[in-house]
Amino acid sequence: MLTGRNSDRTKLLVVIVLVAVITWFHYRTPLSLPFPHELFARLYYLPIFLGGFWFGLIGGTGVPVVVTLLYFPHLWMGWGESGFVFWNKILEVILFNLFGPMVGILTQMEHRQRARNQELQTLASIGEAAAFVAHEIKNIVIPVRGFLRLLRQTCPMDGKAESYIEIAQRESSRLEKIAKNMLTFARRASIQREPIAVEALLHDICHTLSEEFKEKGVELICNCHEGIGEAYLDLEMIRQAIINVLQNALHASPEKGGKVRLKAERGRKLLRVVIKDEGDGIPEHCIEKIFLPFFTTKPKGTGLGLAIARKVAREHGGDISIRSTQGKGTRVSLELPLLGEETFPNKEVSCNP
Ligand SMILES: Nc1ncnc2c1ncn2[C@@H]1O[C@H](COP(=O)(O)OP(=O)(O)OP(=O)(O)O)[C@@H](O)[C@H]1O
Ligand SMILES: [Mg+2]
Repeated sequence: MLTGRNSDRTKLLVVIVLVAVITWFHYRTPLSLPFPHELFARLYYLPIFLGGFWFGLIGGTGVPVVVTLLYFPHLWMGWGESGFVFWNKILEVILFNLFGPMVGILTQMEHRQRARNQELQTLASIGEAAAFVAHEIKNIVIPVRGFLRLLRQTCPMDGKAESYIEIAQRESSRLEKIAKNMLTFARRASIQREPIAVEALLHDICHTLSEEFKEKGVELICNCHEGIGEAYLDLEMIRQAIINVLQNALHASPEKGGKVRLKAERGRKLLRVVIKDEGDGIPEHCIEKIFLPFFTTKPKGTGLGLAIARKVAREHGGDISIRSTQGKGTRVSLELPLLGEETFPNKEVSCNP
């Protein structure tokens, strides 16, 4: 079997032999026989093509240059020929030097595309495997957490044992969060749109997070525009995206006294959900990476929060944008196109938790 290097050598040899054989026959043929000359000139396209096909741009440029140099004396010999024949040959040489690089470039592009497709396939398989593992972890960790809670409630234990159980509970809940995030991120199913009352959704989210915010002494201020009405969205996914962004805002906020604002407004064609915090902001060198899966600056973060939020927004045909000023805070905006089928109850809406 030919290894990569050996096969390259063989290919090179094939190109060299072809060029040499064509050139030899070309020069052996008397000038008085125009047809074989034309034929040999055309046969040069074969090694030129193979040069570009096998060796990319280098081969596609190198072989025609060698062929041109070999062809040059022949041109010289035919200097006395009629203008048409001579210029025909010049044109042929120009074509050699255009055809080779073109084949080389196209082959390189094709190779790159194939490599990219292979990479995507590998990533998809890894993603599937990761989702399977995450699913199993979640199935195991949920009962473990339940039993830990029961143990705490039913068995009398001293302070040390209590603290061990507490650590086990905390770490298993972290494990559950990682598994949940990975599952959402790897989720392939298409979104399930349904009419969602935006006011109720925001109200529910604020209620869910109210304890977390209270614990840190951060105020969560929620405002919906008047008559915000309904939007066709995937409830669970949008809920998770907004929670992820709000949790980031909470983590970034100064303890005791920080404020996070959640606002929803309806444009003519889109619903915009804006989350603003007064935290430290995002350092410039991080801003490009924050949407990358697994990018995190937090010791216990999964780095999937914003990647999920962006995936959710994009699957709804929208996007997420972020503006941050260091020392002043961050503004995240989720823009979700409306389908035009939503209803608009014209009433004043307030969704403070
Ligand atoms: N509002 C914000 N203020 C400051 N930095 C932020 C803010 N939102 C995101 N970041 C930065 O972006 C990084 C990525 O955020 P992302 O939500 O994807 O992951 P995470 O919060 O680190 O982990 P997880 O969401 O799993 O808890 C964060 O680690 C943080 O450095
Ligand atoms: Mg986060």
